Amino acid sequence: MHVVIAGGTGLIGRALAAACLARGDTVSVLTRRPDAPVKGALRRAAKVLWTPNDPNALARHLRTAEVVVNLIGENLAAGRWTAARKRALYASRVESGRALTAAIRLAQPRPKVLLQASAVGYYGDRGDALVGEDTPPGDDFLARLCVDWEASTAPVEALGVRRVVLRTGVVLTREGGALPRLLLPVRLGVGGPLGSGRQWMPWIHMEDEVGAMLFLMAHDEATGPFNLTAPQPVTNAQLVRALAQRLHRPAFLPVPAFALRLLLGEMSTVLLASQRVLPNRLLSLGYAFRYPTLDAALDALFAPPPAATTRMTP
Ligand SMILES: NC(=O)c1ccc[n+]([C@@H]2O[C@H](COP(=O)([O-])OP(=O)(O)OC[C@H]3O[C@@H](n4cnc5c(N)ncnc54)[C@H](OP(=O)(O)O)[C@@H]3O)[C@@H](O)[C@H]2O)c1
Repeated sequence: MHVVIAGGTGLIGRALAAACLARGDTVSVLTRRPDAPVKGALRRAAKVLWTPNDPNALARHLRTAEVVVNLIGENLAAGRWTAARKRALYASRVESGRALTAAIRLAQPRPKVLLQASAVGYYGDRGDALVGEDTPPGDDFLARLCVDWEASTAPVEALGVRRVVLRTGVVLTREGGALPRLLLPVRLGVGGPLGSGRQWMPWIHMEDEVGAMLFLMAHDEATGPFNLTAPQPVTNAQLVRALAQRLHRPAFLPVPAFALRLLLGEMSTVLLASQRVLPNRLLSLGYAFRYPTLDAALDALFAPPPAATTRMTP
């Protein structure tokens, strides 16, 4: 099977590409820098220039693809959300989605499936309420961005392409993303809950993020939004406490919400909004989480690396 991953050089894309290559798929990644050096499994993927202004060129690369995965998006946590930054966050998601849609429209034959990235930020701030895929969107910047992001590729459904929307929580991996950023203050002994710490932080281990994507590719009955989050969400305080225990460090220094708002501006909603998200649709389709609990996920993430095989010399 040929899988095309737009934004495939990123954190999730690299892990997905490695899993697809390991099972024998052909993988192409659409990237702005096809000549940039890559590490690991991505070396065995074709690197194709992302040309949003040339849908015909993109369509030529999609002709042989059974599955297209759209993970493109400027990093939401890379800096304060100034007006210019918000435009970049929006354009990199919504305009890229529209460009991919235009290319899929032109491709003959068309891919069978499109997996479209989104985020649990779709739901806004929900307090302690349980959040399933049928919960309506919130109305802060991130929620509105997610609504337009998801809508940017919706027209492919009318073209006969099965579309799955991935509302992903915080992806836990030692390779990058939120986990190393959460670990740093704990390691330095200045960790603690963010704000009240009572906000729910839906999380998912990277292996389940990728496992769920492969599962959704394979299940013809899967269409529409899916929450990619572990079935046992935790609060921010529970997450920080669990990380501190793993590092044998204290985590008693709360960071007040007002300080986060002052420091990060509107971007603080990513850390302070509460979303008690459940993966209802994945569970009802029969996806079995490898890491349903935070303890199980952290056991795997903090396991010592396998000992290097010692070469016996005669
Ligand atoms: N990681 C998480 O915890 C998480 C949680 C929820 C949702 N998500 C979403 O899932 C998607 C993938 O996440 P990730 O963590 O893998 O992100 P990532 O590491 O930041 O990778 C995103 C990729 O998008 C491409 N990109 C960025 N800006 C672009 C632009 N303006 N135009 C075209 N391409 C651009 C980049 O590829 P090139 O530089 O090679 O072009 C980059 O490798 C993102 O949209 C993210 O918002 C992630």
